[in-house]
Amino acid sequence: MRKLVLAISALALAGTAALADPIADRRAVMKENGKHVGVLVKMVEGEAPFDAAAVLAALTALNDNVQKIDVAASFPAGSDKGDTFASPKIWEDMAGFQAMVDKFKVVTAAAVAAPAPDLEALKQQLGTIGHTCAECHETFRLKKE
Ligand code: HEC
Repeated sequence: MRKLVLAISALALAGTAALADPIADRRAVMKENGKHVGVLVKMVEGEAPFDAAAVLAALTALNDNVQKIDVAASFPAGSDKGDTFASPKIWEDMAGFQAMVDKFKVVTAAAVAAPAPDLEALKQQLGTIGHTCAECHETFRLKKE
């Protein structure tokens, strides 16, 4: 846990300055988001029991990450090239991408403000969050295959 806290605060610091490697950084943040959402998926799929404290912890960690997304720092000009699956559409439609990031921030903040109290509610909450992930990926992320 302490390690995670340190890692997250290191990300917070990195977010304030130009990133040494914006591609690796944004991919690492996204991977972490995937992990936090994975905790919720396990509960919804019945692989783990519903646990309100774990839900809040995962939503909080996700939201903390998402609030730190700084499009200018993480998606600077030129970072469409390299070891990345970011779509060129990001740079063609920066305003649209920024709007999607802003929406993501609203969705995760709302989730933390009203964490699902039971499994039924969690299904809905995960649906809303997952829809936001998918919406952005469909437009702004290249397929890995
Ligand atoms: C505002 C747009 C946007 C939203 C919203 C978004 N993503 Fe992403 N995601 C991206 C982009 C762009 C990439 C590709 C980054 C790259 O390769 O440089 C990505 C990559 C990823 C990856 C692959 C990371 C890697 O390189 O191994 C995962 C996992 C991921 N996202 C999970 C999520 C999850 C889970 C959510 C929702 C909770 C989410 N994303 C929401 C834009 C978004």
